[in-house]
Amino acid sequence: MRRIHRFETIDSTMRCAADLARDGAPSGTVVVADEQTAGQGRLGRSWYSAKGDGLYVSMVLRLDVTGEALPVVTLALGLATADAIMRETGLAPDLRWPNDVMVNGKKCAGILVQLQDSAVIAGIGVNVNHAGFPADLAQLATSLRIATRLEQSRERLLQSMLDAVDASISILEQDGKEAILRLFAQSSSYVTGRRVFVDQPGQLLEGTTDGLDESGFLILRQNDGRRTLVMAGGVRPAS
Ligand code: BTN
Repeated sequence: MRRIHRFETIDSTMRCAADLARDGAPSGTVVVADEQTAGQGRLGRSWYSAKGDGLYVSMVLRLDVTGEALPVVTLALGLATADAIMRETGLAPDLRWPNDVMVNGKKCAGILVQLQDSAVIAGIGVNVNHAGFPADLAQLATSLRIATRLEQSRERLLQSMLDAVDASISILEQDGKEAILRLFAQSSSYVTGRRVFVDQPGQLLEGTTDGLDESGFLILRQNDGRRTLVMAGGVRPAS
């Protein structure tokens, strides 16, 4: 039985789930809000969290995996999110390594994984019923409603997503990270043979993706032939 903490407005479900984890909340504890006033994205960015439009959820996960599997947890959560979106909407999302769920070339969901002591705090934000986005996001973001031209049920998507997260984490715990890496590579057009730019601190790399290493990092074959392991950073199509 899952314990779901629901809020109309909250600063960030990540902060709340981390507090609950610190106080000993069991694995599977869920925090969901209609609106976030300080939604957190990756790399210190903010997450646009318009009231009533999105699914803003964080989960406490106490996992039976070692610390080095953490990057793969992000991939497992992306798979789960894409799966739930497909089930509820019929869309066929793509996965942009490491944490973006894409529809029609634009981002409709993002994953954020943090640690609180030994617990994983898994954050998932989905643009569900947004009719549009602020100018700085309009070229990059889409919503399930924009993509399907139909209003979607956030509650059904939440339940579907929680089931999908359970299933994906079970695969990780029982079959190991190789199983998740295989599934991710099958579900993502970005993992192999994709011409991309990769933003790295102080430099922009350009090359062709060449699979994932055993930790879940992206291998990039640069134009000059060098193979580089991308640990983090924004990946975008080069053509
Ligand atoms: C990203 O793509 O940058 C990750 C976005 C993660 C957003 C979600 S919304 C629910 C949870 N609470 C937050 O403050 N962030 C995550």
